[in-house]
Amino acid sequence: MEKRELLYEGKAKRLYKTDDSSLLISEYKDDLTAGNAAKKGIEKGKGAINCKISTRLFTLLGEHGIKTHLVKTIDDTNQLIKKVDIILIEVVVRNIATGSLTKRLGIKDGTVLPFALVEFYYKDDALNDPILNDEHCIMMDLVKSESDLEELKRLGRDINSILKKFFEERRLNLVDFKVEFGVDSEGNILLADEISPDSCRLWDMDTNEKLDKDLFRQNLGSVKVAYKEVLNRILK
Ligand code: TMP
Repeated sequence: MEKRELLYEGKAKRLYKTDDSSLLISEYKDDLTAGNAAKKGIEKGKGAINCKISTRLFTLLGEHGIKTHLVKTIDDTNQLIKKVDIILIEVVVRNIATGSLTKRLGIKDGTVLPFALVEFYYKDDALNDPILNDEHCIMMDLVKSESDLEELKRLGRDINSILKKFFEERRLNLVDFKVEFGVDSEGNILLADEISPDSCRLWDMDTNEKLDKDLFRQNLGSVKVAYKEVLNRILK
């Protein structure tokens, strides 16, 4: 598969066209951003670690019947993916209260939620990804119908159940995560983007140590050692 011109550069990945118009190449970068790129950093090798973590998690989800954009992983930092129209809704699923949920609602940090909470955020950096309710999503034409929103919620919960169990078996608590979806040429909703410690919160089940991008967000130190630890555990 030939890597052709750059189509789009995001905060953590570059997307390239290929010689097949239905396929793209996603290249993982070493860049780290927080607060919608207000804070920036680079950790050499982070992209390769996240590419491996995301490959393992997308493969796992695929084995459990979740349709994803991943076709194959080409090398350390490049994945061949199906071209989709990204739905501009970030689906966040939370098991434990932290981050923006505790700030917005005053829930004590670390509170175990009574059920997996699914939230929608508008994928718009200039607006700082504001939270959306179902009517906002419909009003703004972010999906075609209410049944698409129901499917996003169902997919978010199913992905959570699969990942939560997988991580628990590796002594990691899946605190929360963000996923993105896209629509392929046949109208199927596919899991897109990535799942890595850049986009989920993982706490060591025995020590409560953070093994995710909060280390960078909160200036707690290098993320690379933590991401490597996550990779080592999920490859077991
Ligand atoms: P939050 O507590 O900041 O709302 O984040 C919830 C989870 O979603 C956390 O794992 C980080 C992830 N997330 C992203 O990866 N990108 C985003 O733009 C947002 C809003 C959340």
